[in-house]
Amino acid sequence: MRAARCEVHGDPDKIVIREMPDPVAGPGEAVVGIDAAAVNYPDVLIAADHYQVSFPTPFTTGSEFAGRVLSVGADVTGVAPGDRVMGSAMGGAFAEQIAVPASSLTTVPDDLDMIHAAAFNVTYRTAYHSLRTIGNMNAGDWVVVLGAAGGVGSACVDVATRLGGKVIAAASTRERADLCRPLGAIETIAYDEEDLKVRIKEITGGGADVVVDPVGGPYAEQSIRALTWGGRYVCVGFAQGEIPKIPLNLVLLKGAILRGFEIRTLAGHAPEAVTRGAEELTRLVADGMKPFVSETFSLNDVPRALTMVAERRATGKIVIDMTR
Ligand SMILES: NC(=O)c1ccc[n+]([C@@H]2O[C@H](COP(=O)([O-])OP(=O)(O)OC[C@H]3O[C@@H](n4cnc5c(N)ncnc54)[C@H](OP(=O)(O)O)[C@@H]3O)[C@@H](O)[C@H]2O)c1
Repeated sequence: MRAARCEVHGDPDKIVIREMPDPVAGPGEAVVGIDAAAVNYPDVLIAADHYQVSFPTPFTTGSEFAGRVLSVGADVTGVAPGDRVMGSAMGGAFAEQIAVPASSLTTVPDDLDMIHAAAFNVTYRTAYHSLRTIGNMNAGDWVVVLGAAGGVGSACVDVATRLGGKVIAAASTRERADLCRPLGAIETIAYDEEDLKVRIKEITGGGADVVVDPVGGPYAEQSIRALTWGGRYVCVGFAQGEIPKIPLNLVLLKGAILRGFEIRTLAGHAPEAVTRGAEELTRLVADGMKPFVSETFSLNDVPRALTMVAERRATGKIVIDMTR
């Protein structure tokens, strides 16, 4: 099989396509023939060795995929060859096949094709749990989404709208923020062109109930300053590169709640929330919800796809289509 390999840590253009042995399913594992794999910002960080967890080279890049089960190892129940499945892994998804624990796979809903299924798991689960499990979002809340034109951001706009939130999509430029209107944003803010705190306060009157922040940097404090009393700020990531430091007097004055979310560890801490989220997301998919996929690339073009994300040029989700 062919795979996109990181042989030296660095920029995406260092990634090379190699012929590799097909994986074999060990006990408890399934081998999936990958139809599509989504690009996530952490793929860029992992290749550069800037992620929380370091991966020794060489390794196959890519963390999220959808395809069909090709074979299963001993002791596997619940999935069988031919099943349409999606999953995520800490690497190995930018390849024609992957071996993963069979229990980590979920069935692709009938309403999703493989391209959209590949882009669903990480961003939509992150969006749902950031908003509901961590942000305690309710219908009618003012919800501010930073980095709204990105993968996590566009999923947050979509999910928050479908859960009855009044969504303000914030992105660097007006053009990028406006991409979120079809997803349900009722207001937009271009945070590199106007004052984020002032605009949130103007739009909401009393301030935001929930802020979801996958960007970090200076936008974090500005949005916390625009929370209503008792508002919730959810820290999801630092795509801007700078980890913000927040003055605690803001928390005191606003009775604010600052919480973080990490999908990697959620199941271990809150299995009941994972079950509830899966049920609610399945219902929303049946209602027509699906990721905003802006572009697809072939496996040969993995370096180009990752470069688009690294250079802040991507909108929504970029997907590697293995069938091309
Ligand atoms: N906690 C979790 O469980 C979890 C799960 C998934 C992802 N994440 C994290 O969430 C963050 C966003 O992920 P994503 O998949 O949504 O990425 P993405 O699609 O690349 O979106 C990130 C957004 O951040 C904004 N941004 C601002 N400064 C940037 C910079 N210097 N470089 C790149 N982007 C910049 C960009 O929007 P503008 O240009 O419009 O500002 C971009 O659309 C990442 O840090 C990722 O690691 C966390």
